[in-house]
Amino acid sequence: MEQSKALFDFNLVLIGFMGTGKTTISNTLQHIFAMDVIEMDQMIEEREGMSISEIFETYGEQYFRDAETNLLIEMQERKNVVISCGGGTPLREVNVAEMKKNGKVILLTAEPETIFERVKDSHDRPVIEKNKNLSFITELMEERRPKYEAAADIIIHTDHKNEDQICEEIIEKVLASEEARH
Ligand code: S3P
Repeated sequence: MEQSKALFDFNLVLIGFMGTGKTTISNTLQHIFAMDVIEMDQMIEEREGMSISEIFETYGEQYFRDAETNLLIEMQERKNVVISCGGGTPLREVNVAEMKKNGKVILLTAEPETIFERVKDSHDRPVIEKNKNLSFITELMEERRPKYEAAADIIIHTDHKNEDQICEEIIEKVLASEEARH
């Protein structure tokens, strides 16, 4: 699947719990559709000159959350880019409003067991670092689920699908939702 021309002029905003594959899928979309990717976590890390864990430790979570909000507002000037959010970005109502101004919000989901397997060996997620077990992850996912679902224009279940299948499903659903709007 090769595509050089932009299929749409809005942004694709990927949301979902940690480990649902936002970064991986953004990179695949970038390769297939030649779309630029804004990896929010990475951009904030670069600007602050420290890791997410260090930002949490040094300035606290609120500071990081404010940086996310400011970045989303800034990104409204961009068109046809993939914005890969941090797992907590859609928890603030204002962030969801900002995402929707020029973006289609795509929620990636996965089973808690899948998430646990993906995150268990990494140490760059301060929200779960001290509680990296299946029951904590399951609980936090359930707690966040209503907010994720309320924010989503499109929901993609990722379990048992490969990256290409997930990207095709995203594009199909995005185009179908655009057709339904016109
Ligand atoms: C967070 C998820 C992380 C990162 C930060 C907080 C969260 O992003 O933004 O550690 O609250 O869920 P990923 O979903 O990319 O791991």
